[in-house]
Amino acid sequence: MITVIGSINMDIVVETNVFPKQGETVFGQAFHTVPGGKGANQAVAVARLGGDVHMVGALGRDAFGKELRTILTQENINDDLVADVDTATGIASITLFDEDNRIIVVPGANYDVTNASIDAARDLIAQSDLVVMQLEIPQATVAYALDVCQELGTKVLLNPAPAENFKAEWMDRVAYFTPNETECADIFGVDVEAALEKYPNQLIVTLGGDGARYFDGERHVFVKGFKTQPVDTTGAGDTFNGAFAYAVTNGQTITEAVAFANIAASLSVEQFGAQGGMPSHEAVIERLGGVQ
Ligand code: RIB
Repeated sequence: MITVIGSINMDIVVETNVFPKQGETVFGQAFHTVPGGKGANQAVAVARLGGDVHMVGALGRDAFGKELRTILTQENINDDLVADVDTATGIASITLFDEDNRIIVVPGANYDVTNASIDAARDLIAQSDLVVMQLEIPQATVAYALDVCQELGTKVLLNPAPAENFKAEWMDRVAYFTPNETECADIFGVDVEAALEKYPNQLIVTLGGDGARYFDGERHVFVKGFKTQPVDTTGAGDTFNGAFAYAVTNGQTITEAVAFANIAASLSVEQFGAQGGMPSHEAVIERLGGVQ
């Protein structure tokens, strides 16, 4: 069983062919509201693959909150520890331009995930094979959750996004740490090889469509991605993290789990929305079979 402790957002997405300059108004092509938030996305990625997943988070008592809770349950995610709070549900303003995204997150209710939320999840954490976290909830809550996981002997996968909320002293309490190249450089301030060699079998650096890499203690391991034509890259990293979590908790080695996660991420970018393209287990196996 996997427990995801993290954010749940409504993504407010604008597609545009022209990116406005400061003070300029332009016409966009389309507008959508779709479910998102790095925590919820990673939980959905696990659930679509058939994993048993529980979510710890918070939603506002508003229309977005109601809609997002319905989606969590439709996706077979246990939401018993997703609190209803008075703060507005978190949102992400996403601009899709030139085949990439720009995201501004307003955390709202996600910042009501507190130490008390973690205390309420102690039994769940103790029973979990893995706790998955990101950094869209308060830094103090992440720090406390890491302490509780350590005390209860539960492994943690930490996806340090947004990286500015990461604290270096957390590394000794994290089993798997999954920044992208930019986040890795921001966090460690050294080149990627040096960072990887410091954290063998723990630090896995994602390389977008090129795949991911880690250091196994003796050699640098590159696991190639699957090249595809992206429709929307939003949530690709979340799909990678959810799929990696699913795979390592189902007995796969790090190399196997990274290969599985690369394929899941490649499928996810072929459809619109952070969660829109997240694949089933069968879809990942089918594509994986084609590349092995
Ligand atoms: O990783 C993509 C996610 O980042 C979006 O769904 C958005 O909500 C932000 O949290």
